[in-house]
This record gives sequence, C-alpha cells and structure tokens, in this order.
Amino acid sequence: MKIRKAKKTDLKKVSETFLDEFGKKPYSEKWTRKSALGRIKQYFQNSLILILEEQGEIIGFLIGSTYLGWNGWMGFINEFVVSERHQGKGHGKKLMSYFQKTLKKKKITQISLTSHIDSQAFKMYQKWGFKIDKESVSMHKKLR
Ligand SMILES: CC(C)(COP(=O)(O)OP(=O)(O)OC[C@H]1O[C@@H](n2cnc3c(N)ncnc32)[C@H](O)[C@@H]1OP(=O)(O)O)[C@@H](O)C(=O)NCCC(=O)NCCS
Repeated sequence: MKIRKAKKTDLKKVSETFLDEFGKKPYSEKWTRKSALGRIKQYFQNSLILILEEQGEIIGFLIGSTYLGWNGWMGFINEFVVSERHQGKGHGKKLMSYFQKTLKKKKITQISLTSHIDSQAFKMYQKWGFKIDKESVSMHKKLR
C-alpha cells in the first residue's frame, strides 16, 4: 500500500471511483463520467489529491485543501473515498492520518468536513474525534 500525490494520468480513474461510490446510497448523486471528471480536474487545479495505491492499482483517494479562517489556517476534507471492495480494511484510516500529518507539518491544527447524516462515514468521523458543529447547517437554494 502506497500513498502519493495524484498525477494528471490518475484523474480518469479517480473520477470513475468517485462516480461509483457517490452514486450509491445514501448519496445517490447523479454524476456522469463527464461531470465527475470535470469535478476531479477542478480539484487537481486547486487542492491536494492523495492517491491510495495497492499493487499499482488506485483503490482510494482523499482530496483536501487548506484555507485561512478567522482563527487561523484550517484543513478541509473535500472528498474521501475507498472503493467498495477495499473498504473496511483500514485503508481509509491510513489515508486520513497521512493527510492530518501533512497538515500538522504545515502547523495546521484544525480540520473540518461536511458529511451525509445517514452515512456510515458520519459515524466513523465521530469515532475519529470529529465533533458536530451545532451552530451551522448546510443550506441550498435553487435559482430560477
Ligand atoms: C468512508 C471511507 C473512505 C472509509 O474508508 P475505509 O477504508 O472503509 O475505512 P477503514 O477500514 O479505515 O475504517 C475506518 C473506521 O471506520 C469504522 N467504521 C466503519 N463503518 C462504521 C460504522 N457504521 N459505524 C462506526 N464506525 C464505522 C471502522 O470500524 C474503522 O474504525 P477504526 O478507525 O476505529 O478502526 C469508505 O468507507 C468509503 O469510501 N465510503 C463511501 C464514500 C464515503 O462515504 N466517503 C465519505 C464521504 S464524506
């Protein structure tokens, strides 16, 4: 198992894994191959894409970024995926701890994310010490 930064040639495979996993419940997101690749290419421009590789195969990835908040620099998890047949074997945990170490090396000591309330990942994040931010909710408006 190896963790490395993404190369341009990885983006297609990353986008396919992204589309596969977020097409499932509870997410049920309706990505197409084109829109998923577009999204991942956008991340490649402005975020860190960490690839989890096993025997030359991409089995997961974490996309993270940093931003300056009122109380200092923050790390943010944009996307976090291990492909289904490799889940539950500790790969996600290793990837997350690698990203957190990367942040700590940059003296960044806070990290945040958003999570689907019905997902297994939501429970996992709580187990990993992430706390629900009680003052904020996610909002959305359809523009007509
Ligand atoms: C979330 C995800 C990346 C985790 O990767 P993984 O390789 O399966 O995770 P791991 O095997 O390292 O397990 C991580 C931890 O979650 C725990 N876990 C798994 N399912 C759980 C559940 N239903 N309730 C509580 N904890 C759970 C595991 O026991 C493990 O705990 P530990 O850290 O104490 O050992 C992966 O499952 C995934 O891609 N899911 C689909 C996409 C997704 O939901 N991404 C997150 C979007 S915010």
